[in-house]
Amino acid sequence: MNTSPAPMGRRRVCVVGAGYVGLTAAACFAHIGHDVACVESDPWRLDELRQGRIPIHEPGLDALVAQGAADGRLRFYAEVGPALLGAEVAFLCVGTPPQPSGEPNLGPLAVAARQVAAAAPRDVVVVVKSTVPPGSCEALELICAEAAPAGVTVRVASSPEFLRESRAVWDFLHPDRVVVGSDDPGVADLIGGLYPEGCAVVRCDRRGAELVKYAANTFLAVKISFANEVARLCGALGTDATAVLEGVGLDRRIGTAFLRPGPGYGGSCLPKDVAGFRAAGEALGAPTWLADAAERSNHQARRAVVATLRAAVGSLAGKQVAVLGFAFKAGTDDTRDSPGLDIAAQLVEAGASVRIHDPLAAPLSHPGLWAAGVGDAVLGADAVVVTTDAAEYRSIRPDWLAATMHGRTAVDAAGAFDVPAFSAEGITVYGVGRGAPTDFPAVVWSPLRWAHPVSEGVPG
Ligand SMILES: NC(=O)c1ccc[n+]([C@@H]2O[C@H](COP(=O)([O-])OP(=O)(O)OC[C@H]3O[C@@H](n4cnc5c(N)ncnc54)[C@H](O)[C@@H]3O)[C@@H](O)[C@H]2O)c1
Repeated sequence: MNTSPAPMGRRRVCVVGAGYVGLTAAACFAHIGHDVACVESDPWRLDELRQGRIPIHEPGLDALVAQGAADGRLRFYAEVGPALLGAEVAFLCVGTPPQPSGEPNLGPLAVAARQVAAAAPRDVVVVVKSTVPPGSCEALELICAEAAPAGVTVRVASSPEFLRESRAVWDFLHPDRVVVGSDDPGVADLIGGLYPEGCAVVRCDRRGAELVKYAANTFLAVKISFANEVARLCGALGTDATAVLEGVGLDRRIGTAFLRPGPGYGGSCLPKDVAGFRAAGEALGAPTWLADAAERSNHQARRAVVATLRAAVGSLAGKQVAVLGFAFKAGTDDTRDSPGLDIAAQLVEAGASVRIHDPLAAPLSHPGLWAAGVGDAVLGADAVVVTTDAAEYRSIRPDWLAATMHGRTAVDAAGAFDVPAFSAEGITVYGVGRGAPTDFPAVVWSPLRWAHPVSEGVPG
């Protein structure tokens, strides 16, 4: 691999799929100055976009889409054919959801690649932005060769996307790096030149680029699971995980990002990509022990939230519990593989009566459990469980909560509550490695025993 600054040039670009990645890429490419034709197969999404409405929550995206549409640099299409006219490059940004085996479903991606190849009026470069197992671009190139009209060459390259939901526009316009995987230097130059001027471009072969994405997300998952393991030790020791992890993360070799205790990772990417990384390792005979452990630890992190509540209030049967946060994190409306929904489902299974709330996400499932406001969710609740640190939850006043809920227990897995302020109102807040586990005994274990002869016992 080597890095080089991205050159700049205005191009006509086709983007297939207008989800979190595709719509952001399309709007940002138009903002940079390219002519963008964005294809979306979902009629409802397409209609919303054509009416100037944004079907997902992503700060700043509405303004960029409106600007692109007004400037005539961003148009939306139902079919690939007209969108490809004049385009040298087509970015595939369709979903690659996980299958029960852990491997992603690449069916929609193959369909999209075939559609582009079949409609290509001239040679085209297909760039896979979706997250895929190493080797996928090579397979897609074979599919494209079969589908392309005679005399048309379709080359497939990889350029995975690293944006974070809730900061997608910022991340796309200010990437830490852009990764371009192609064996053809001319193709790599063409793709690298489409991105914002001056960003670092890592160039490698296609398999390498595909693996960068899996490896990066798996490393982040390992970091989150590690933080939760440290937090579990903190809980057992009665010390504050937030301070401990800050002490660890401020070491520049480690870094504070993703080193926060919480209810475990979720969303459409980390769980799927860890599973994909593991599946790739298994297929290739390369053990992935750390990824395996991160996944197990993550399941445990979600169960631990429910176990903490059970330890605090006893049997959950018949208890009324408010779950605050069912998007997979604050700042997004994405509920895919969300810890909050998982925790709510565990509570329902344990016999609790659950009301769930989220500031941004719409209740796509469990309609009977959904509360329109925080007040509706917590009114008369025996306990409150917080799973994201949304601003709305961070600003809950302890006196208001004490007056609105029935019980006096909160499990704040997201670190949203100021524990002493809630304690002052009589609410016991249990966190992940923080909070008020008041019934811990004094530390009684071997490292302290050296100071006390065995005959005198240990400090009590
Ligand atoms: N969401 C993220 O934060 C993120 C970040 C980096 C990478 N990724 C990866 O990017 C890919 C896309 O993720 P997403 O979250 O944007 O998915 P998404 O489900 O939000 O969007 C995919 C869109 O593609 C459309 N689509 C599917 N087939 C199509 C076709 N043949 N023609 C036109 N449109 C089609 C769907 O209708 C949908 O609107 C996935 O592989 C994902 O792992 C996602």
